[in-house]
Amino acid sequence: MRKERVEFKIERAEEEDLDKLAELYLEGYRGLEEYSYTHPDDVRAYMRWLLKRDPEGIFVAKVDGEIVGFVAGDANWFSKREHRKVGAIHEIVVHPRYRGMGIGHALMERILEYFKDKGLHVAELWVGDENYNAIEFYRKLGFKEKGQYNYWVRMTLDLNHSKG
Ligand SMILES: CC(C)(COP(=O)(O)OP(=O)(O)OC[C@H]1O[C@@H](n2cnc3c(N)ncnc32)[C@H](O)[C@@H]1OP(=O)(O)O)[C@@H](O)C(=O)NCCC(=O)NCCS
Repeated sequence: MRKERVEFKIERAEEEDLDKLAELYLEGYRGLEEYSYTHPDDVRAYMRWLLKRDPEGIFVAKVDGEIVGFVAGDANWFSKREHRKVGAIHEIVVHPRYRGMGIGHALMERILEYFKDKGLHVAELWVGDENYNAIEFYRKLGFKEKGQYNYWVRMTLDLNHSKG
């Protein structure tokens, strides 16, 4: 399904990127509002929360210096299901115009590498049960479904046996 190639760079996010990330989040979640914040104030508060959870854990993808995607990871998360610290992926969004070009995949590889550098063994995320595109995207990366809570599906990846 890959459309075309585009040159992009992955960098660590800075605090001054947060407004842009909030904008991108609102654009990226159009059509998936049942799983997302919709009020700009809530989205900005969420972005600040993400940065506070792990100031080193947000990476952005840039095309010609413009942010077109980001992943928000958290190397400080304690998973109640795993009974240990895991690398949590709280958020990933790629601008609709730049999807299918490998950007989401590259962001995920970067965050998984970060978790491994931190000595973590498992990556965990929760995805909306009807967000089929994202579920397929995570499966392609090796994530496995590990149960459901309300309309959220939990997926995990064993970092000791994943590629990259
Ligand atoms: C999920 C998302 C981040 C994927 O980003 P992306 O840059 O389009 O992903 P990539 O181009 O790197 O795709 C990687 C692989 O995932 C799979 N994939 C990606 N989007 C897919 C889709 N819409 N349907 C089926 N498979 C998909 C593809 O198989 C692709 O690999 P391939 O082209 O080699 O077959 C993007 O669709 C998005 O921002 N969605 C809205 C926000 C969201 O749902 N986030 C997840 C919340 S838990």
